[in-house]
Amino acid sequence: MTTTRPVRKAVIPVAGNGTRFLPATKAMPKEMLTVVDRPVVQYAVDEALQAGIENIIFVTSRNKTAIEDYFDSAPELIASLTRSGKTVQVAQLEKMLPVAGTVSYTRQQAPLGLGHAVWCARELVGNEPFALLLPDMVSYGAKGCMAGLMDLYNDVGGNVFAVEECAPEETSSYGIVGVGNSVAHGFQVTEMVEKPAPAAAPSNYYLNGRYILQPEIFELLAAQERGAGNEIQLTDSMQTLLQVQPFHAHPYQGRTFDCGSKRGFIEANVAFAMLRADMGAELHASIKDILALHETRMKAA
Ligand code: UTP
Repeated sequence: MTTTRPVRKAVIPVAGNGTRFLPATKAMPKEMLTVVDRPVVQYAVDEALQAGIENIIFVTSRNKTAIEDYFDSAPELIASLTRSGKTVQVAQLEKMLPVAGTVSYTRQQAPLGLGHAVWCARELVGNEPFALLLPDMVSYGAKGCMAGLMDLYNDVGGNVFAVEECAPEETSSYGIVGVGNSVAHGFQVTEMVEKPAPAAAPSNYYLNGRYILQPEIFELLAAQERGAGNEIQLTDSMQTLLQVQPFHAHPYQGRTFDCGSKRGFIEANVAFAMLRADMGAELHASIKDILALHETRMKAA
């Protein structure tokens, strides 16, 4: 049976290896790579809080302690900045500090896949619906993707996630959904397939990394066998849950940058920097210069 119980907690998995971003991720979590001057994980936390989430649960792993330090107080730094009269920076750091007790951490001991990472959060989530945000997918739009998803959830309950359209030949890179009846803010989901070949894909709507799930997913994840990429896939357990609970999809009106890929990360940096009052106009001019320079070099090559 579906419910519209309030969604208070968000799970943010940060335990992956980040192999697409080696060698940078050899000694640094990919979730701490910066888009302009903030780590990608900060964008996910802000988006969750903006949607009304009260508690953040990180699923972390070895070599990711920089994330815990980032969301903790930094008394020595604050004292040093205060002594130097850097009041703006002090205010900025104090403002971004989470309310004590609202951030929790659990560890995934081996990167067995997204489904396994989510299952590792089961005790901290408990028996209630929860939001899930993949932090390397950074949303860029007038309204946060999770806030839009919350609107759909409040209308239809059950399980919901956000989708975007990809080029038909790119379906084998994503979780793809089948499209059913329309509802306000979205449509009913008829099936989910992880990384289908274009000919087997039910549509070109892909899951963009924002979900609200019912806690029954945890029992299915506990029994889930490895799937695509030899990993425990969340999509496979969602497909099983779809047999007994409804799923709806919300087409996100903005755009998501995959900051786990080099190209997406660079695009996100350009897009977010262009929005900034302190550098947008100059950057716009610099990009024109770089394009001209690039053309000259290509002609000379
Ligand atoms: P990705 O598949 O993009 O992360 O998972 P990855 O495995 O680190 O990336 P590559 O393919 O090796 O480059 C999306 C999110 O889920 C987390 C990742 O940290 C990322 O934030 N994740 C993934 C886990 O927490 N555990 C896993 O086993 C896999």
